[in-house]
Amino acid sequence: MAVTPTLETDVLRRQDPELAEILLAELTRQSTTLQLIAAENFASPAVLAALGSPLANKYAEGYPGARHHGGCELADVAERVAVDRATALFGAAHANVQSHSGSSAVLAAYAALLRPGDTVLALGLPYGGHLTHGSPANFSGRWFDFVGYGVDAETGLIDHDQVRHLARDHRPKAIVCGSIAYPRHIDYAFFHEVADEVGAYLIVAAGHPIGLVAGGVAPSPVPYADVVCATTHKVLRGPRGGMILCGSELAERIDRSVFPFTQGGAQMNSIAAKAVAFGEAATPAFGAYARQVVANARVLAGHLAAEGFGVVTGGTDTHLIVVDPAPLGVDGRSARGRLAAAGIVLDCCALPHGEGRGLRLGTAAVTTQGMGETEMVLIAALLAGVLRGDHDPAGVRAEVRELTGRFPPYPG
Ligand SMILES: Cc1ncc(COP(=O)(O)O)c(C=O)c1O
Repeated sequence: MAVTPTLETDVLRRQDPELAEILLAELTRQSTTLQLIAAENFASPAVLAALGSPLANKYAEGYPGARHHGGCELADVAERVAVDRATALFGAAHANVQSHSGSSAVLAAYAALLRPGDTVLALGLPYGGHLTHGSPANFSGRWFDFVGYGVDAETGLIDHDQVRHLARDHRPKAIVCGSIAYPRHIDYAFFHEVADEVGAYLIVAAGHPIGLVAGGVAPSPVPYADVVCATTHKVLRGPRGGMILCGSELAERIDRSVFPFTQGGAQMNSIAAKAVAFGEAATPAFGAYARQVVANARVLAGHLAAEGFGVVTGGTDTHLIVVDPAPLGVDGRSARGRLAAAGIVLDCCALPHGEGRGLRLGTAAVTTQGMGETEMVLIAALLAGVLRGDHDPAGVRAEVRELTGRFPPYPG
């Protein structure tokens, strides 16, 4: 792997061959199968180098200039660089880059704005809401009173009339918009208007589209939201982690809700890696990448429709596609298993108003590998071939190996 210099791989191999073998096998798995999980990407060697740097050793509770530990001079510089790059990239007054994950960013946002028992309006889980949008298995469902809005049964698009009615009926303390399976742009101006009308905070859960926002190919929630929560992996292509953007009036509340309310020491190696990713995302090359991600998703969605899949919302504006494989005679859950056997890795997801499970795909990782529209046409054909039973899995596995061999995620 380019990021792990041979020397370090050799060190690991010598010291702990068992783990070295697992890590190298994972690299082989990622490089020789098709990564279509919409939440995944290939972070750059520079991002991975920052993750594996000595900042991983540093304890740094608190914020730059106000730490509870000594020796934070350079950690402070790294965090200030990350914050400055994030605020510049997204045009936000304030950024907190310490959240360990997307879920902990949402937890901190709720902690800053809500009290247990408050009512929150969010996209219902069957329609693509995340666990943090009121799942009974998650802190959100246990501590807050969630009301779910849905999508139109015909179009699959967010039902704006329902959002407005539910907001007027329930007078939520916060409205959450954002999804793990919504392939279209979200109308943040609409949500802002409704939140304003009922006196609710607007929290945008932008983990999926935030990389497209950085690349200039999706609308920004920043001008409309009180708080934007996001992940730094996915299309944004940084390390696994979270971040929060907000205006200066909420900055102190958000910071205190991250540390000390919901987290202890910041993961400084991860913050440095976030800084590297924000730097990469500010380049023209990343804009070109984001455009290609969407172009690829559109072609893939179109060809999946032509192959007979039911495409939720009829297509996509983003990196994400949701399809119903039922017309090909298979449910999402068994489709995922059959595709995995052929080296095609993707997720099942709920189908709004549908029977059974759907499939969720994304083009972030394959686009990082350099694949374009031609390869999307081939991928659609491979998926359909496997599920229809026209192609035997071993034959498709060989085609996937050939395809990924032409587009290695970490060349050299
Ligand atoms: C909207 C949204 N919220 C929260 C999360 C959770 O992120 P994590 O898995 O890092 O906790 C995600 C990740 O898929 C997301 O898309």
